[in-house]
Amino acid sequence: ILEILIKGLQRLEYRGYDSAGGSVSHEWEINAKSIHLIKQRGKVKALDEEIHKQEDIDLDVEFDVHLGIAHTRWATHGAPSPLNSHPQRSGKDNEFIVIHNGIITNYNDLKKFLESKGYEFESETDTETIAKLVKYMYDNRESDISFATLVERVIQQLEGAFALVFKSIHFPGEAVGTRRGGPLLIGVRSDHKLSTDHIPVLYRSCDRMFDLCGNSPMFPITLRCSGSAVIEHTNRVIFLEDDDVAAVMDGRLSIHRIKRTAGDHPARAIQTLQMELQQIMKGNFSSFMQKEIFEQPESVINTMRGRVNFDDNSVILGGLKDHIKEIQRCRRLILIACGTSYHAGVATRQVLEELTELPVMVELASDFLDRNTPVFRDDVCFFISQSGETADSLLALRYCKERGALTVGITNTVGSSISRETDCGVHINAGPEIGVASTKAYTSQFVALIMFALLMCDDRISMQPRRREIIQGLRALPDLIREVLNLDDEIQRLAAELYQQKSVLIMGRGYHYATCLEGALKIKEITYMHSEGILAGELKHGPLALVDKLMPVIMIIMRDHTYTKCQNALQQVVARQGRPIVICDKDDYETIKNSSRTIKVPHCVDCLQGILSVIPLQLLSFHLAVLRGYDVDCPRNLAKSVTVE
Ligand code: AGP
Repeated sequence: ILEILIKGLQRLEYRGYDSAGGSVSHEWEINAKSIHLIKQRGKVKALDEEIHKQEDIDLDVEFDVHLGIAHTRWATHGAPSPLNSHPQRSGKDNEFIVIHNGIITNYNDLKKFLESKGYEFESETDTETIAKLVKYMYDNRESDISFATLVERVIQQLEGAFALVFKSIHFPGEAVGTRRGGPLLIGVRSDHKLSTDHIPVLYRSCDRMFDLCGNSPMFPITLRCSGSAVIEHTNRVIFLEDDDVAAVMDGRLSIHRIKRTAGDHPARAIQTLQMELQQIMKGNFSSFMQKEIFEQPESVINTMRGRVNFDDNSVILGGLKDHIKEIQRCRRLILIACGTSYHAGVATRQVLEELTELPVMVELASDFLDRNTPVFRDDVCFFISQSGETADSLLALRYCKERGALTVGITNTVGSSISRETDCGVHINAGPEIGVASTKAYTSQFVALIMFALLMCDDRISMQPRRREIIQGLRALPDLIREVLNLDDEIQRLAAELYQQKSVLIMGRGYHYATCLEGALKIKEITYMHSEGILAGELKHGPLALVDKLMPVIMIIMRDHTYTKCQNALQQVVARQGRPIVICDKDDYETIKNSSRTIKVPHCVDCLQGILSVIPLQLLSFHLAVLRGYDVDCPRNLAKSVTVE
């Protein structure tokens, strides 16, 4: 049990946690009439060591029922500490315990209520209120109720977002999971062939357990919408819907809901995860991020596979085919995302405007929501998200749906909340991205949005020469990416010159403004250096004041319609004694001649050039972080999947 739990946590470690001082906490519990909790700060390894130090646990003991729960915490309420770690408990005797991802927004009210009933709180978490509430409701039950029904009652009192798993000494051998707004999946493994591919939903009136696989053992391994924790045990999973309550007892699973509402599907499908264990291993690379940077020639091919026909210059996106006519008739496209995914929207905005001839807005999801942005029925709203679980993007999606807009998902995670809740979409098929710093997902999102733009104008005669140019550019892209990756040694040397600096400015414009933002985000995220992406057109409106002979400046100058303006910016920087490192076209002899230092990348069609200009910055941030001695894959304070607002 412990090995499965610890390994599962290790597989999820990459998703990030509070790393300041090794500030993640992990816990586990062994099934028995009494529940044993162990919580530890730091890496999963520290928890493993702690387990082996326990004198009151016999690690050779054999249990009849194999059931345990485990958790890694990314702190929101209360600093990382054993007390604030999960499972949280109802009281000192661990009668009820719960693990939780998400935030309970009404926890203060619940806490006050429970305190008025005599409950004493030991942690600063919102989660502890759930553990106490379940005990309160159990103690005040009118008649015998099942664990699932008890949990159903508890979640009716909760506001906010959550994925929860409960255990209790009153229901030995049983665990109950539920979700609302946060992802939760159940991995299903059986030694026997499953008798069905669907688990029926039991509505309150019906309390029968559904025997999934006879008496054979099944391991439900839950929490987070990532297959990584379960993939070495099974690729068969069930994605729970909001307010589903799943109970597991003696290897049997039942899924409950209070009542059936219109549009509810009365069963949950057991789906097959398209993921291989080796995809979530580092191979010969020193980190996942490095592996993912070097995977980009293949990941962009996977994004285009079966979708772009380079011989007849056609594009097919199966996930959009039923909606493309409606999209073509829309009044406006709105691209909504966070972080790197937002940058993919910024990077492709111009070509989307060009090929669709529609107004295109690119929005940061949090700001879009803060502004209560007007959205109309004839808008088409895109949600770009590697994980498909980012809370801000998901809330923006629901906001747009409520207003009647058509919603389109661009995600890397099949089965994620965004891919399931949007009307249609494109999976970018970049393969699992483990490094917290997003790299291959960015280039694949970029390609996916380009393919969408191409699809939008496939019957426009006047656009055909441009379409052909871009499609042939896509054909060449993997080889050109390989050529850029060959610059790795040169970029490592550059990093050795820069890694002790405090700050790096990155300037560019047009298609490369997004590259500046993305390069600066990569640098700050994993090197903890200050870095700023600056629109070169804004230089003289403020940022130029930062430039002197000491300030490291990287400029992106490509041979497109902004070339002359970029040359002007270069001159302005040089005139202030700046000595910029210029990322430029390898055949741009003029820039090479006028610059003290250049990183030369191959030429490509203008709207795809941003894919080639960002890779040197991905490599640079990686080498800077390594030289500064940081954990490249797990930057401090950050999580891979940001499932809280
Ligand atoms: C990128 O390196 C970041 N880790 C972050 O900005 C990320 O892109 C953002 O949190 C959005 O995530 P998503 O694509 O999974 O929605």
